[in-house]
Amino acid sequence: MRTQVGIIGAGPAGLLLSLMLQRRGVDTVILESRERKAIEATIRAGILEQSTVDLMIELGVGARLKRDGVVHHGTILRFGGRNHRIDFEGLTGGRVVTLYPQHEVLKDLIAARLQQGGEIQFGTRATEVVDVETPQPVIRFAGADGAAGELRCDVVVGADGFHGPSRRAIPAGRRNDYQRIYPFGWFGILCEAPPSSEELIYARHDCGFALISSRTPQVQRMYFQCDPAGNVDDWSEERIWSELQARVAGDDGFRLKEGRIFQKNIVPMRSFVCEPMQHGRLFLAGDAAHVVPPTGAKGLNLAASDVWHLDRALGAFFAGGSTTLMEGYSAAALPRVWRAQHFSWWMTSMLHRFEGASAFDDKRQFAELELVTGTVPAARSLAETYVGMPFG
Ligand code: DHB
Repeated sequence: MRTQVGIIGAGPAGLLLSLMLQRRGVDTVILESRERKAIEATIRAGILEQSTVDLMIELGVGARLKRDGVVHHGTILRFGGRNHRIDFEGLTGGRVVTLYPQHEVLKDLIAARLQQGGEIQFGTRATEVVDVETPQPVIRFAGADGAAGELRCDVVVGADGFHGPSRRAIPAGRRNDYQRIYPFGWFGILCEAPPSSEELIYARHDCGFALISSRTPQVQRMYFQCDPAGNVDDWSEERIWSELQARVAGDDGFRLKEGRIFQKNIVPMRSFVCEPMQHGRLFLAGDAAHVVPPTGAKGLNLAASDVWHLDRALGAFFAGGSTTLMEGYSAAALPRVWRAQHFSWWMTSMLHRFEGASAFDDKRQFAELELVTGTVPAARSLAETYVGMPFG
């Protein structure tokens, strides 16, 4: 098998890139270890920055997003038992975010790519990337039937997530990994209930963080800070609701609307960056190169920004052989990556309860929340980073 750009991973990064390169007449093959059904059913985050929305519309995959996506003009930070609103639109000169779940994004991207006749090999597990220092790198894989195969490429893009094999093809001596693991995770639920709030609520409470989000008028998504080594089976519906209600309780009498919980999962939390994001003919994108904790929903948007740079770099290379943008990929992508790292770490630190936190830490956290919700420059800084900057 041969292609121009071999892409490992049919997540947002890999699929967006294959659609963008198709516009330039560059051939891609995507190898994906999971089955289509499993990918399209995995629940992830749901906030799209305007640049991500614009990119999807530009690629002709925005019809369902425009119909079903819900525009959010602001968000709520809840602490001290009451709501404090951050007005994205007013603070940023009209910019907003759209709530449209990641698995719906993936359904749209997969359908569009297959309709173009593009090749996505599901159930095909990349095992190793070799010869990345030559002009003909190779992806080794195990096919759906278990048989070993090889995909020869001009360029390999590793969009295979944090646990994928591509990052290992950058020799340890040529790469710096920066990492922080948080001592808590998020317990996520989906439930059958009407929305409890028109806007997302990020709640800080002495018992820990909670996030109230939504999926549809009938289905809600909520999270609460938990032990990352916990077991979802230890949490009955009753216990979950009592924990969530406690974390949003306040003098205003606010209560969540409860309903049948039909999905539970625990998400571990880490911050991670691999530098550089390129070695020879191998380019990393999305979670293969960097992971953010979910507070602030930057993961998918960062993946879109990476491949926006890669599209231009690979486009220049296949059009005329120029390697300037390819060699500049890491330097071009990393400033936004670190900005998002800072934001996600900061939002996480401001809103979560750290074990062993002193009364001083609590007071300082409270003062920070007062600053962010009570002064225009601090609120604007949060709002601008939340809605996101244009790519590039
Ligand atoms: C959702 C997840 C997030 O991490 C976030 O910051 C906002 C929303 C969600 O799943 O809806």
